[in-house]
Amino acid sequence: MTAASLEIVPAASFGEVVAARLADRLVARPSLVVCLPTGRTPLPLYERLPAAVAARSASLAGATVVLLDEYLGLPAGHGARCDTVLRREVIDRSDPPPRFVPFDVDRADPPEACAAVDAAIAANGGLDLVILGLGANGHVGMNEPGAAPDAPTRVVELAASTREAARGYGADPPPSHGVTVGMAAIAAAREIWLLATGTAKAAILARTVDGPISVEVPASLLRPHAGLRIIADDAAAAALRRR
Ligand code: PGA
Repeated sequence: MTAASLEIVPAASFGEVVAARLADRLVARPSLVVCLPTGRTPLPLYERLPAAVAARSASLAGATVVLLDEYLGLPAGHGARCDTVLRREVIDRSDPPPRFVPFDVDRADPPEACAAVDAAIAANGGLDLVILGLGANGHVGMNEPGAAPDAPTRVVELAASTREAARGYGADPPPSHGVTVGMAAIAAAREIWLLATGTAKAAILARTVDGPISVEVPASLLRPHAGLRIIADDAAAAALRRR
């Protein structure tokens, strides 16, 4: 891990700093193809994004937003569905909105929905940027421990801690399976921003950054990527060996 790829930001300005950076990317490339996560970590970023975009007289109108992952078995519109969350937090707050590529799990078979997301990524020239949260178990998207570095976009069985997180987001009973952009597609992106905030992520961030590169911590598999940037707040960075 080089110093340049790890950035520690005060918790109070985390959303603003990352939103500013994403808005800068939109200015540089209005046709940005960006894969975005749900979960709690990116919420401050999404809250600040409209102001950051407006401050630069920029727009998401030419951008494509690809959903990182989705639960299976929840009805369309369910409040814990990843597409519902990303529409509410990003797409519907953008005027005009970006093109949105969710997993079409309502009309297509899950493997077909995965193939359609991969096809949309390819049709748009590949992902410029993937923004990731860090799972308590080291997952990225729903690439759970054990996922190979070349794992495709696919149907996955959710780890116990991921199911519990889903319950916390309002899916009760939580789903057992999901679909996720795979490790291969994440690693093929030009840039990857891995976000981690709060003391609850300190131990897994330390394993991700300072531990061995291992399929047991899928986020660690991204360390060789030249475009990886890890952005953590003070609390999440507290257990890191190198500051
Ligand atoms: P969180 O989830 O942002 O709600 O902590 C991250 C993840 O599990 O990927």
